[in-house]
Amino acid sequence: MSETSPPPSGQRWGGGAVRALLAHLPAVLLTLLLWRFLPMLVEPPYPVWAFWAAEGVLAALFAMLLRCAPWWWGINALFPPLLVLALGLNVAPVWMGALFLALLLVFWNAHGERVPLYLSNSTTHAALQAILAREAGEARRVADLGSGLGGALRAMAEAPRVAEAVGFETAPLPWLISRLRLGRHPRIRLRRASFWSERLSDFDVVYAFLSPAPMPRLWAKLVREARRPMLLISNSFAVPGVEPDAVIELDDARGTELFLYRLPLP
Ligand SMILES: C[S@@+](CC[C@H](N)C(=O)[O-])C[C@H]1O[C@@H](n2cnc3c(N)ncnc32)[C@H](O)[C@@H]1O
Repeated sequence: MSETSPPPSGQRWGGGAVRALLAHLPAVLLTLLLWRFLPMLVEPPYPVWAFWAAEGVLAALFAMLLRCAPWWWGINALFPPLLVLALGLNVAPVWMGALFLALLLVFWNAHGERVPLYLSNSTTHAALQAILAREAGEARRVADLGSGLGGALRAMAEAPRVAEAVGFETAPLPWLISRLRLGRHPRIRLRRASFWSERLSDFDVVYAFLSPAPMPRLWAKLVREARRPMLLISNSFAVPGVEPDAVIELDDARGTELFLYRLPLP
């Protein structure tokens, strides 16, 4: 892991379920044109799946152009083939319903909070432990704002001189899984609560791996609440318009960056 000077801005990714959906309109239109005019260029027949694939690729490209978050590019690309597959599988509606419910319980915060579930990797866990080991102070309290399945929370709980690690998670299924995995850990406390409704001023370190959407609001909350030294570690998403105190670049496949901010402000 290496530290660099702060970047100009962290707001590199847009969000946008509605824009991702809208991306299908030009994609469908272009696919229909392709269907209509391709015979003039290439002798038919062609496999029908090629048109579904074309629609997916075009919808992914339009999602990119509309500056949707990267996960929408993949969702848009996979949507048509998965739809065809699902229709072809002839799965009983009850299983479709169960799948929908499971996805809803996992991606509970994807729409309202614009924060889906994706997990910090083991390189990030090690980096969090290294950062915490360097921080001064005894019996520190740390928090994971949106603790998912609890991996990052456990890594922090097992860092030197951490007395308590609190995970806030509102998505029911990730909360339940983390509860089953870590409920007996002596230094971990899991709260099925939104971190927006909690006072965060008692934490020495707060870790967040969210999305660009909540960063300005999160920063405003921490600035308002921080009374004594607190470190915010944000995975991948910088606070727009605020210079981080440090940026740590991790040596992993996705080129993770950790943005470090010290509070309270002088
Ligand atoms: C990108 S995941 C990160 C999971 C975990 N921190 C990690 O690094 O592996 C973000 C998590 O935040 C949760 N989340 C989003 N908004 C939240 C809120 N207001 N309160 C509690 N959890 C929230 C989501 O449900 C999701 O599980």
